[in-house]
Amino acid sequence: MKVCIVGGTGNISTPIARLLVEMGHQVTLFNRGLNPGVPAGVALIKGDRRERPAFEAAMQAGKFDAAIDMICFNAEDAHSTVRAFRGIKHLIFTSTVCTYGVQSDWLPVTEDHPLRPITDYGRHKVEASRIFMEAYYHEGFPVTIFKPSTTFGPRWNLLRQIAWEAGWVDRIKKGKPIVVCGDGRALHQWLYVDDAAPAFAFALGRERCVGQVYNLMKNEFGSWADYHRTAMQVIGREVELVGVPLASLLAARTPNVSICETIFSHNTVYCPDKLMRDVPEFRPKISLTEGMTRVLAAMEREGRIPDSDKEDWEDRLIAAQRKVGELKLS
Ligand SMILES: NC(=O)c1ccc[n+]([C@@H]2O[C@H](COP(=O)([O-])OP(=O)(O)OC[C@H]3O[C@@H](n4cnc5c(N)ncnc54)[C@H](OP(=O)(O)O)[C@@H]3O)[C@@H](O)[C@H]2O)c1
Repeated sequence: MKVCIVGGTGNISTPIARLLVEMGHQVTLFNRGLNPGVPAGVALIKGDRRERPAFEAAMQAGKFDAAIDMICFNAEDAHSTVRAFRGIKHLIFTSTVCTYGVQSDWLPVTEDHPLRPITDYGRHKVEASRIFMEAYYHEGFPVTIFKPSTTFGPRWNLLRQIAWEAGWVDRIKKGKPIVVCGDGRALHQWLYVDDAAPAFAFALGRERCVGQVYNLMKNEFGSWADYHRTAMQVIGREVELVGVPLASLLAARTPNVSICETIFSHNTVYCPDKLMRDVPEFRPKISLTEGMTRVLAAMEREGRIPDSDKEDWEDRLIAAQRKVGELKLS
């Protein structure tokens, strides 16, 4: 098939592009050309999707059989994608589990769960989904919606629970304690990007997937405390995990804490059974340990591990928490 990826050189889409080429598809990427990593044999159309007329004209001119939109974030993007790919046989829109929100009525969350997003990111993805499903029902626009949970790979730094930052890796290397939220027992799922790629690549062009919504994650979960202990094993040094309540992390204005407030402090467990039924080629194989090993190797190679000695906020949080621990009320 003649396939276009809107995106294609980022975290999730790089392995998808590679796999599509291996499968013998004729692959084109549309992006601004800011990132390296266009695989051999892949065409690149340079452009910004927010320049709507040029983007839509380029996609219509490409006469693609199928497409994957990796970077559609709101209703305007969705309208533009529908115009850009009118006449296509199949399009996958990459949404997110943040569309469900975090107050789950049941776990694991299935695709029929109510949508109660708590962030603009989630709300805008819900609006984009609505545009696509309207286009499907009213015009027969052949869309499939994927909702990934955390999908990590070498393009990103290794995530942590309490904030969007990577200095914690250096803290472990230096034997310093690290903070988790509460008791670190909030449950989460981590999918390595190479394991996500077959879901996209094998769903593409599959009749039974059209008009469907699929959760996309590994069929297993763990606590953030276990996640951080796994990282310690990979790094080769054990450090203390210090629990700090979410309220204290927020009150202390922990830098970049919002990811913890809106996602990582909650039990976020989703069910990928529907995807595994309809796309049996999606069978994640890469363990958390292996995935972390690969990401840490990329961070080392590319000098992306921040020096934790240059920041003191985590030491100050830990000191304050230890003081609370000394409190005796009777
Ligand atoms: N990773 C996760 O855990 C996760 C979880 C849930 C949902 N998602 C969803 O997955 C999708 C992909 O996420 P990702 O971070 O892995 O990204 P990705 O698709 O792997 O990378 C971003 C790609 O888009 C291109 N791009 C960015 N802005 C552009 C623009 N304005 N015009 C044209 N191209 C542009 C980038 O290249 P240039 O910069 O060169 O343009 C790059 O090729 C997103 O929709 C996200 O909401 C991700």
